[in-house]
Amino acid sequence: MKILLLGKNGQVGWELQRSLAPLGGLVALDRHSTEADGGCGDLSQPQRLRETVLRLRPDVIVNAAAHTAVDRAESEPELARTVNTVAPGALAEAAHAVGALLVHYSTDYVFDGSGDAPWREDAATAPLSVYGATKRDGEDRVRASGARHLIFRTSWVYAARGGNFARTMLRLAQERERLTVIDDQWGAPTGADLIADVTAHAIRQTLREPTCAGTYHLCAAGETTWNGYARFVLDTARALKPELALKAQEVAPVPTTAFPTPARRPLNSRLDTRRLRDTFGLALPHWQTGVRRMLAEIL
Ligand SMILES: NC(=O)c1ccc[n+]([C@@H]2O[C@H](COP(=O)([O-])OP(=O)(O)OC[C@H]3O[C@@H](n4cnc5c(N)ncnc54)[C@H](OP(=O)(O)O)[C@@H]3O)[C@@H](O)[C@H]2O)c1
Repeated sequence: MKILLLGKNGQVGWELQRSLAPLGGLVALDRHSTEADGGCGDLSQPQRLRETVLRLRPDVIVNAAAHTAVDRAESEPELARTVNTVAPGALAEAAHAVGALLVHYSTDYVFDGSGDAPWREDAATAPLSVYGATKRDGEDRVRASGARHLIFRTSWVYAARGGNFARTMLRLAQERERLTVIDDQWGAPTGADLIADVTAHAIRQTLREPTCAGTYHLCAAGETTWNGYARFVLDTARALKPELALKAQEVAPVPTTAFPTPARRPLNSRLDTRRLRDTFGLALPHWQTGVRRMLAEIL
């Protein structure tokens, strides 16, 4: 089996290089890839992406690339639309042409964040930001293409590799006695490793049972706020590595309005994952399990 992976160096893409490897031959590309690497992996060039797919004729395409700079997208909406909407559409059309299964990722930011119930897959979307709108339109193009597909909406992604929220909190907690962190946005921090592992399981099952194709919510179990997440990071870090000598004694709760940003973010990012668990027979671990493991790796 031949698998084409796009966005190989992102948080999820990096973990997919690991989790997809046992499934078959992997051609992994990023925006700088050339013909020598296997083809064009630049999502700002949808036509060249299409040509790459038509030439490689993969059995599975996994698109982990996206314009994920949520605030920057507000000032570069055209680039965000090309990368998050037009390119997934081109990939999906090419996937349909060669009979490939397309795996694509989307976000809790397709919802407006109202209420406090976990969002189900068929709930009405109403994005608050350019990022959310372009991701939602990308999903729609994938669904309209006729390609067999898996769309996974996830939330609050972190990885051990590179910068992340936990590292930022740890750094600030070494510098300051008091942190202020938003306490009115709710969601589930989700490890890129979990997303990649679930993706590999779902691909195997969907290739055997095509009726499993569709849109799914994929995030860790449980819920918290950014403030609860920060407190858990600091408490766990103190337990794992007392010599860190974290100065911060308080993580004060503040509302989202205390940190104005160019993009609006949903207050309720809870995702209902029942469809994924039932269809694929998978258990999703609690968010704290993954965050604790990530901290043990980076500390
Ligand atoms: N991060 C989150 O909290 C979050 C939450 C919900 C959903 N998601 C979704 O989950 C998926 C994976 O996200 P992630 O967390 O792994 O994001 P990430 O770490 O920001 O990775 C995104 C990757 O896309 C690449 N990329 C950006 N523009 C590109 C272009 N024009 N051509 C090719 N590659 C390009 C980036 O490359 P460079 O590094 O070179 O820019 C980066 O490697 C995305 O679909 C995202 O929308 C993420």
